[in-house]
Amino acid sequence: MKRLALSDEDAEARRLVISWMTKAGMEVRIDQIGNVYATRPGTDRTLPCVLMGSHIDTVPTGGAFDGTLGVLGAIEVVRTLNENHVTTLRDIEVGFFTEEEGVRFGTDMLGSAVTAGRITLDDAHALTDDDGHTVADELVRTGFDGPAHHRRPIPHAYIECHIEQGPILAGAGVEVGLVTGVQSISWQRLTVRGEAAHAGTTPIEYRHDAGLIAAEVIVKLRRMCDSGTYGALRATVGKITFGPGQTNVIPDTATLTIELRNPVDQQMSAAEEHLADVVRDLTARHGVQTTLDRMAKTAVVPFDEQVQKLIARTADDLGLDYAQAMSGAGHDAQEISAICPTAMIFVAGENNGISHTPKECSNPRA
Ligand code: GLV
Ligand code: MN
Ligand code: MN
Repeated sequence: MKRLALSDEDAEARRLVISWMTKAGMEVRIDQIGNVYATRPGTDRTLPCVLMGSHIDTVPTGGAFDGTLGVLGAIEVVRTLNENHVTTLRDIEVGFFTEEEGVRFGTDMLGSAVTAGRITLDDAHALTDDDGHTVADELVRTGFDGPAHHRRPIPHAYIECHIEQGPILAGAGVEVGLVTGVQSISWQRLTVRGEAAHAGTTPIEYRHDAGLIAAEVIVKLRRMCDSGTYGALRATVGKITFGPGQTNVIPDTATLTIELRNPVDQQMSAAEEHLADVVRDLTARHGVQTTLDRMAKTAVVPFDEQVQKLIARTADDLGLDYAQAMSGAGHDAQEISAICPTAMIFVAGENNGISHTPKECSNPRA
């Protein structure tokens, strides 16, 4: 799947999902950041709704389940209620949020963060992709610059179903995960400016090689993870570019993304401080200039105990074994949990839950 947020492919998928929502008898509205909500009325329209959902954008080399499962699963819940003529006291809403992946405009959980108030609408609209297109322009271009206010009415509760994207459930031999929370996520962009020069004639000791700094940072990050000093730190450099990018020219620029994850906020802070020290030291030793820019940062988010208990009780009633798991991935639920009681249900993935690749897959037990 390649369905970057607010691309033509995303717009086509949005229209398709909206058609399914409408066919399920739901009324659809779109908000100012392109989040889409569909409503199945309850018997008391004055009460706050129960919201379910996730996202349908993907990374450029994504799978079929990440996000989409939670949106289509929620529509299926509504269809099942319809088929069985079940009425509910509260409205049920199914939503999908804009740019959860953050790979196009650089900030993950964007739509849910805007509706929950962590990021302002103006800041979100001004974000640009690598080609300089703004979120605001792409919302207009795709027709998803909706009229509904971006700060949605506060729901009674939010539930998000998602593929686990990891090996915990398979390891425990269960199909369902009760998600206790989401770990901290830090995204920074490191830009290194050195000096371009001839690769054959410039002696090693004369160089200001931006590529070397990038390489050292990647190795240092791995050592930080292996050291145990920062707990269960995970560090990834997933995107890197060198300028001028020629075989026989020493790089004068290196730009790399640095993404850190940690289930403990203090250990995340300590890792970020050490990374800043490492960059300062490399800057001084190699005579280059560096800047570390913040792209995104979210703290550890624990999910609501009551909603977790309700999920556990429901799994027991259905005879489903489940395991508790903290989420290694970021999710819209971590943003929505700032405005209402929230929790998540994981389903196990095949191949140790491999995700963010087309290999991502989940099969119900036969
Ligand atoms: C969302 O997919 C994330 O990067 O965790
Ligand atoms: Mn996801
Ligand atoms: Mn994802």
